[in-house]
Amino acid sequence: MLGDGTGKIWMDGQMVDWVDASVHVLSHTFHYGSGVFEGERAYRGKIFKMKEHHKRLKAGAKMIDFEIPYTVEEINKAAEAVIKENGFSEAYVRPIAWHGPESLSVATKGTSVHLAIAAWKWTSYFDVKDGQVPAIRLMWSDYVRPAPNVGPVMAKANGQYISGTLGKNKAMREGYDDAIMLDYRGYVAECTGANLFMVKGGVLITPIADCFLNGITRQTIIEIAHEMGIPVVEKHFYPDEIAQADEVFITGTAVEVQPIGEIGAQKYATGPITMKIRQTYTKCVNGEA
Ligand SMILES: Cc1ncc(COP(=O)(O)O)c(C=O)c1O
Repeated sequence: MLGDGTGKIWMDGQMVDWVDASVHVLSHTFHYGSGVFEGERAYRGKIFKMKEHHKRLKAGAKMIDFEIPYTVEEINKAAEAVIKENGFSEAYVRPIAWHGPESLSVATKGTSVHLAIAAWKWTSYFDVKDGQVPAIRLMWSDYVRPAPNVGPVMAKANGQYISGTLGKNKAMREGYDDAIMLDYRGYVAECTGANLFMVKGGVLITPIADCFLNGITRQTIIEIAHEMGIPVVEKHFYPDEIAQADEVFITGTAVEVQPIGEIGAQKYATGPITMKIRQTYTKCVNGEA
């Protein structure tokens, strides 16, 4: 169970007890993956980039043909209320919008739309040992990020996560931490739930986000790099180029800035640019930069 099973979850406009926040088994989204969600972090009780997350939630719903019946401002207030009600400081926040059980046609016509926001205490995604962030190990996924005409690839839609789930399952079974995915053209894309950067000769390079989620953290890191005077290049590249990288790291709300120590047989040291960017990101999320 996530959290300790107590506290409140905001559901369709009301705070409900954690144990009562359930959804009917015939809900459309449960069968067909027709929902959108967000992953947010609260630091010192304040959700980082909250407005951006809720704009993306609303925009993602539109991309998959539905309207969330709350404004961004209303969703902001609801998320803040969840943090306050549960007395959280460092927390993960999970809004989710879904279709109810009125129809099991593949189409969503006639189904009700719901929104819930849950939160639980959370400090770090991967283990932090002795205050250090150990580099993690990635393996190449068997699955690729699909072409934009395969689905609404820019939406954070739950129906799109199965390839990531399978990639990460296999990686963990084989002793890795996560999987790195190519796209439908064979270019390096991202991880199962995080974007990817490499450093080469002092330049920060990241894949163009044209067939996967353009993460809010990814955008923040690009801004931070610009402010730090680190040149940033967004481009398509193949796996042979990442094999030549000096440093590799992944970014996301959950993983923050996570150094990569291995991709398959290729090893990387955690370098100074990764650490500088990580330190600045940490200051930023805590409202210090
Ligand atoms: C597939 C995928 N890519 C990238 C990201 C990183 O996005 P963000 O930085 O907005 O958390 C996430 C996390 O939500 C994700 O699920």
